[in-house]
Amino acid sequence: MSLLKLDKLIKDFGGLRAVDEVTFEVEAGDVFGLIGPNGAGKTTVFNLITGNYEPNGGDVIFDGTRINGLAPNKIVSLGVARTFQTIRLFKSLSALENVLSGAHCRMTSGSIAAMLKTPFQRREEKEALKLALTELDFVGLGDQAETRADGLSYGNQRLLEIARALATKPKLLILDEPAGGMNEQETDALIEIIARIKARGITVLLIEHDMSLVMQACEKLVVIEYGRKIAEGLPEEIKVNKKVIEAYLGTEDEEDETCF
Ligand SMILES: Nc1ncnc2c1ncn2[C@@H]1O[C@H](COP(=O)(O)OP(=O)(O)OP(=O)(O)O)[C@@H](O)[C@H]1O
Ligand SMILES: [Mg+2]
Repeated sequence: MSLLKLDKLIKDFGGLRAVDEVTFEVEAGDVFGLIGPNGAGKTTVFNLITGNYEPNGGDVIFDGTRINGLAPNKIVSLGVARTFQTIRLFKSLSALENVLSGAHCRMTSGSIAAMLKTPFQRREEKEALKLALTELDFVGLGDQAETRADGLSYGNQRLLEIARALATKPKLLILDEPAGGMNEQETDALIEIIARIKARGITVLLIEHDMSLVMQACEKLVVIEYGRKIAEGLPEEIKVNKKVIEAYLGTEDEEDETCF
């Protein structure tokens, strides 16, 4: 059974249909890529999965449960974590504190327990700290725990967002342009991190314009253009798909650096 199923998903912004009956399924354990030209509707699809937007039609089924309409924090607690196209960290907090904010999503202690510092709350806090340090190490930022988020390089800030998302213990990790702003060396390190995330049994759904990452990291791809799915298949099939090539060649946006 698929871990995630999008069924005829629709999102309108006023008169603009940004997502137009998009349907696809992500199998558990896969690294799955969602690609398409600038403005195609990719981030909007992610926002529909994570509860940031409510669809105007269609369904999002995660792990057998219909999740559209649920609050983002509820969706996180079900096992969906994400990073953002535009980095959203607590800039003035340390790297460790940022990852702890992810770990805290899983804590059950209420505010009264937190105030009273019950043994249960102290134990949970200790576990959260251990988890946060483990995830920082996992992305290679173990020695930057005390560095303020805005003191990290851009590439490391992207890795910190991944560590924070992992600290929520997701089944599905959603990455919106994780290599955005990274140099070649950082991108290679990211590809290796994604492979290790997969090896942990976590399913990955990513948006990326860097085609070398997409081709190396993803097992399956869906391509959207103007909110509609235009192709779906293995990376080597997508690479030679006429519709896909036309969609990319047709874009005149200079920022779109996609090239196969
Ligand atoms: N909150 C919003 N309000 C109005 N229009 C929006 C909103 N969010 C996105 N759009 C529009 O929806 C369309 C799809 O945008 P989206 O950000 O999903 O594209 P994208 O595929 O992620 O593009 P990029 O590769 O540039 O990040 C665009 O035309 C965009 O201007
Ligand atoms: Mg986007």
